[in-house]
Amino acid sequence: NKKITIAIDGFSSTGKSTVAKELAKSLGYIYVDSGAMYRAVTLFAMKQNFVGADFFDLASLSEKLSSIDLSFELNKDTGNADMYLNGMNVENEIRTLEVSNLVSKVAAASVVRKKLVSIQKDIGKNKGVVMDGRDIGTVVFTDAELKIFMNASADTRAKRRYKELLDKGQDVSYDAIYENVVERDRLDSTRKDSPLVRAEDAIEIDNSNLTREEQFEIILKLVKERS
Ligand code: C5P
Repeated sequence: NKKITIAIDGFSSTGKSTVAKELAKSLGYIYVDSGAMYRAVTLFAMKQNFVGADFFDLASLSEKLSSIDLSFELNKDTGNADMYLNGMNVENEIRTLEVSNLVSKVAAASVVRKKLVSIQKDIGKNKGVVMDGRDIGTVVFTDAELKIFMNASADTRAKRRYKELLDKGQDVSYDAIYENVVERDRLDSTRKDSPLVRAEDAIEIDNSNLTREEQFEIILKLVKERS
């Protein structure tokens, strides 16, 4: 069995990370949540007051980019990798609606993308990696052996995200989540640098009516055919 590269892209809250984590575990591959990296840079920018609802000081963020250190470290309790920003565990902080509402603005900046894509390529250079995001099949790993493009109706996606945040004890409204999901997709699909589009050679899976298990089996079969 040769190790391959698996790129999973798609709209927000399509369950990309859930299936990517499951795949990585069952294959013994590395899982990388590229969205967490964009969220961590956004959190940094928020703390420095470089970005807010009606402003974005890209010049100052660009100047400080080299001082942002990103790493993933295994969380022994969950078995997943947590996001670290300059040595601090920010796994929970990056998942708030505040970060979700600003991340697409920060992720549209080419200087930010350049830095993160270079780290992502480096992590995946030995294959045996499952990475999920928006531009993994189109930019980061253009030669990935398996590219998946995940989709689901906006309502299905917002419901999933709403439940996730409620389970984490966050005080959010369904309408605010729905709005965020739709607006983030719009910004991510229309930006100039690396917009969210299905790679020509990606296999599209709409999971609105699939169980987790069904979806996992479909993708595992595709992996087996390629490795
Ligand atoms: O995957 P997640 O929803 O956590 O991603 C958060 C945001 O990060 C996306 O809405 C998008 O703006 C940005 N992103 C990106 N490219 C990636 C991964 C995420 O632009 N590869």
